Amino acid sequence: MSSDRTGKTAVPEVMRAVRQHEPGGNLVYETVPVPHPGPGEVLVRMQASPVNPSDLALIRGNYLARTYPFVPGLEGSGTVIRSGGGLMAGLRLGKRVACSPDPEGDGAWAEYMKTSAMRTTLLPGNISHEQGSMMLINPMTAMALIEMARAGNHRALVNNAAASALGKMLIRLAGKYRIPLINIVRNEKQVTELREMGASHVLNSTDSSFESELQRISHELKATLFLDAVTGEQSSQLLRAAPKGTTLVAYARLSGDPMKVDPASLISEMKQVVGFQLGNWLQTKGILFKLRLVGRVKSHLDGALHTRIHKRMPLEKAEEAILEYKNNMSAGKIILTME
Ligand SMILES: NC(=O)c1ccc[n+]([C@@H]2O[C@H](COP(=O)([O-])OP(=O)(O)OC[C@H]3O[C@@H](n4cnc5c(N)ncnc54)[C@H](OP(=O)(O)O)[C@@H]3O)[C@@H](O)[C@H]2O)c1
Repeated sequence: MSSDRTGKTAVPEVMRAVRQHEPGGNLVYETVPVPHPGPGEVLVRMQASPVNPSDLALIRGNYLARTYPFVPGLEGSGTVIRSGGGLMAGLRLGKRVACSPDPEGDGAWAEYMKTSAMRTTLLPGNISHEQGSMMLINPMTAMALIEMARAGNHRALVNNAAASALGKMLIRLAGKYRIPLINIVRNEKQVTELREMGASHVLNSTDSSFESELQRISHELKATLFLDAVTGEQSSQLLRAAPKGTTLVAYARLSGDPMKVDPASLISEMKQVVGFQLGNWLQTKGILFKLRLVGRVKSHLDGALHTRIHKRMPLEKAEEAILEYKNNMSAGKIILTME
């Protein structure tokens, strides 16, 4: 990266970015102006950004409101090369950061992203840009869900879509915190993979005995926190099998289907269904709690919260990257690279 005569990193007038021009429309790789950070904001020279299920939902047009055209990419990493003013933004200047876009702002699938300094976090020296680019969504969520289990004194947990990057983090964290975890996947290859990772309880939701096995093990282990990323019909199965007093946490809707819940189980068995979204959950927490959580996440990024990378692809191949990712989500993350 070159510098100008004042020693500042030179910033071009224009950059390459991936943009979508209408809900559900194609992704276009095009030249657009480099944004200028305002007070409290920074400009990040982007290095890497993963493709996550939330990106797919955003591109489909059924998650978070957007003004078109917009740049997708809900998290990434890079180096702060401009501050728009303010203490926090100034402190970030020249630093490697993990970053996420402002709620209605352009995202990370571009050479440069403007965002609030508050939406950046410093990357420790031992963490690569690639791992750092995936820090703010899944590792934070995995730690938050474990925190929820510990705060609620749940003796054991259930999680589905468990061959996901997040599911694998939960397996390692649950092992670390000695919380028994029942994992649900949807094929035998995933059962084998999770068993090889050391998971003790892995159920295949396509087995005919799935529901009765889930009922047996969850009662035996007294698992009263069910983490549900699939929802739809699977939520009904989970609620039928769950012990009395269970809380089912809907944290994604991978099936795309509406949830059907038998009110009898809520009324007579004191079960409850709640929603979880990381950003909303964090808003209920104080600054010290959040700083501690981020610190814990950073300390586990090269261990329990490590993310497997399936493939690296340049930004201009974003469309191809999405297809590849959809074909084999459990294989690991596809990372879009900007250099
Ligand atoms: N609420 C929040 O704040 C929050 C935060 C972070 C993540 N999440 C959610 O957590 C989930 C995991 O995220 P990730 O990035 O770790 O995912 P990922 O690594 O991309 O993997 C996605 C997983 O979902 C499975 N899957 C996809 N569609 C499914 C379906 N209809 N039924 C059952 N399994 C299905 C895939 O299995 P196959 O390989 O068999 O397709 C794969 O194992 C996502 O749904 C994401 O949106 C929510």
